[in-house]
Amino acid sequence: MATVTGNERVEALKQEVRGVLPRSAARAERDRLLIPGGTTRSRFWWPIPIYIDHGEGVHVTDIDGRTYIDCNLAFGPLILGHSHPAVTGAIRDQLDRGVLFGPANEWEADLAKMIVDNVPGADMVSFAGSGMEATLGALRLARAATGRQKVAKFEGGFHGMQDFLHQSFNSFGGPTDQPETIPDSGGITDAVRDSVVALPFNDPVAFKLIEERADEIACVIVEPVQGGGGAIPVDEQFLLGLSDVCSEHGVLLILDEVITGFRLSPSGGAGMYGVEPDLVALGKVIGGGLGAGAVAGRGKYLDLMRRGVDGKAVGLGSTHAANPISMAAGRAQLQVLLGAPELYEQINRLGARMRDGLSALLHELDIVGHVTGAGSIWGIHFSDRAPASIRDLTDANRWAARVLPAYLLFEDVLMSAPYHLGFLSTEHTEEDIDTAIDGHRRALVRMTEDGWFPE
Ligand SMILES: Cc1ncc(COP(=O)(O)O)c(C=O)c1O
Repeated sequence: MATVTGNERVEALKQEVRGVLPRSAARAERDRLLIPGGTTRSRFWWPIPIYIDHGEGVHVTDIDGRTYIDCNLAFGPLILGHSHPAVTGAIRDQLDRGVLFGPANEWEADLAKMIVDNVPGADMVSFAGSGMEATLGALRLARAATGRQKVAKFEGGFHGMQDFLHQSFNSFGGPTDQPETIPDSGGITDAVRDSVVALPFNDPVAFKLIEERADEIACVIVEPVQGGGGAIPVDEQFLLGLSDVCSEHGVLLILDEVITGFRLSPSGGAGMYGVEPDLVALGKVIGGGLGAGAVAGRGKYLDLMRRGVDGKAVGLGSTHAANPISMAAGRAQLQVLLGAPELYEQINRLGARMRDGLSALLHELDIVGHVTGAGSIWGIHFSDRAPASIRDLTDANRWAARVLPAYLLFEDVLMSAPYHLGFLSTEHTEEDIDTAIDGHRRALVRMTEDGWFPE
């Protein structure tokens, strides 16, 4: 019998996906000429972008008429699911009154108050148009506050596409006690690369590296759960140790809660882990599905936007920062969440059900892999050890990770690739989780039959 090569397997799978999604495939073919990859975020969808027509609750329906259980939820913002009436109602009300104004709107301070009342260490807030703008702003405030030039980040940490932090996210170099900063994009200058100190994640060697260069490091930015890096949670003792080292050396601790803020708990990851950061970057959930970001933190830092340093105010803001529709949508979403905090217990329990179910499935099917995550977030890695950082994923079966979401499409489950960043909403039920796990079972059985898990 002729052996099927890796290339033939890939081609056969691509053909099968195109056959099942003919309209998406045709659009992708056409749109490739207009937009690199056919869609701006093509890097998450393999082998073709899927064009969604509409979403409701936990389901999305594509232009081929296929309906999926959405385990991606637009990479996290839609914690109440698609088209939640409270959120769409608030958007509709604002829509009728105008979408964007130069002057202020009333929703902004309401949302700021919800943030200040819930996010540890936050007594002031400045809004941004996106999570990336929030992390960029947090770095600038930290440099202004400390007068230091460099910023530190962890390998595997994703903080948006901005130059400083789109480094050592997907890549790493050098030994853990001397990590190199590696740009993850073309176009990042050497000067920007050299202003960023890369640190090994969940590895106390990082503390020594911070101590050695403390007089030049303005801040360390860290996610409570690395999202793009593989849904890998920070170790609690590591985070507490990091917080101590930072405060001892006057290095500001920035918690990037763009994914975890108002998702893991009303007080995000900071509340869950019991840390009080100097600055917090927020996004996703606080925008109710519309574009939003925020830098929150101690007034003495935020107030640098007004007071300035050496006569220079710290400039933050953008055309869409604090726009009325995003503020209204975010306010409505947080009102639902904060009005019923038991929802957190519910989605976190469902998250555990998903992680436990998928782990049991890998075991049952004898597939080498690990399920990571926390709260309502999860990821799957075909690695021989449970990853504590991207360094542990060097030998993982990356092809299996890339193709699993394509096999899941046949089972009506939507998940991104190559990063399996799974999210749940308050609308998911136990039945939805079990249906999604069954979809994974059929997908993984087929992948085994098709030879994606060589001995
Ligand atoms: C942890 C984290 N920080 C920052 C960002 C950037 O947010 P945005 O995509 O809104 O710019 C993201 C985006 O996924 C993220 O996951």
